[in-house]
Amino acid sequence: MGHLAMTQPTPHEDWHILGAGALGGLWAVRLSQLMPVYLLARNPTSPSRALHLQDQQGSQSRTLPVEPINAPGAPIRQLLVATKSYDALPALQAVSHRLLPNTAIYLMQNGLGSQEAVVRQYSRYPIYAVTTTEGANRRSPDEIIHAGRGQSWIGPLNERASLARANVTACRFREAGLESQATPDIRHRLWLKLAINCAINPFTAVLNCPNGELIHYAFFNERLPALCEEVAQAMSLAGYPTTATALQTQVQEVISGTAANISSMLQDIRAGRRTEIDAINGYLVQFSQAQGLQAPINEDLVQRVLALHP
Ligand code: PAF
Repeated sequence: MGHLAMTQPTPHEDWHILGAGALGGLWAVRLSQLMPVYLLARNPTSPSRALHLQDQQGSQSRTLPVEPINAPGAPIRQLLVATKSYDALPALQAVSHRLLPNTAIYLMQNGLGSQEAVVRQYSRYPIYAVTTTEGANRRSPDEIIHAGRGQSWIGPLNERASLARANVTACRFREAGLESQATPDIRHRLWLKLAINCAINPFTAVLNCPNGELIHYAFFNERLPALCEEVAQAMSLAGYPTTATALQTQVQEVISGTAANISSMLQDIRAGRRTEIDAINGYLVQFSQAQGLQAPINEDLVQRVLALHP
């Protein structure tokens, strides 16, 4: 069967991972069980890094080589970019001297906008997006907690990329213990995730609460229907028709499924880091305005989050 043929080992299966935060670190540890994995870092302080991964099955440690991103080095054949959305393009630029004409670039950013920026500048490479509902956070820089198992989707973002290759990669991720599937329309998945993030992340940042507590705040309940309306209009114009009611139901499901979670945006605020608001609600506002629509609820949330961390 074609499916089995695709799981045959192919040469040069090494992975380079840019941005070993919680998700990048989870992928690094899992993939390194099957093939060589190299971490790429700005100004690494040592040539290797020990990552500890804890999940329901127990804990696992892997010591992985770390290469400085702008130093010369062997060619990169498969690159997973797991940086924050605002760092994807600059980080990729720093390693571009190591890319081969066929290097596959996998983008794993939250929100939208950063992927298209990479596709525009790196159109000569096969580019894929990966979106995931895996839940991971960090107890310390090298200690990753795999808090909730999820599902990942991989799909081509440009014509140099193929669904067949996305399928092979999804197989590899599954073999590494990360439930994954290839999809021909990854942009639809990215929009669905954007919708959920628009409706949860900024509220948790402004209200400083875990996802599950949102439903107790009038600030959230009063704005959610109109916010979902703005997102549904934008999604429909992007070619993914949906309704505010359908989005609201999905948001409520994610809130109850992740009730104890501290959203990634609130984690950023608490750590004094820049948030991804520009790629989430900011993208929604820009996209809507470019289509002649206003998105005042999203716009107000962007301002409120920027007031917490510019
Ligand atoms: O960004 C996040 O934290 C997550 O995507 C979500 C769904 C909001 C759950 O915490």
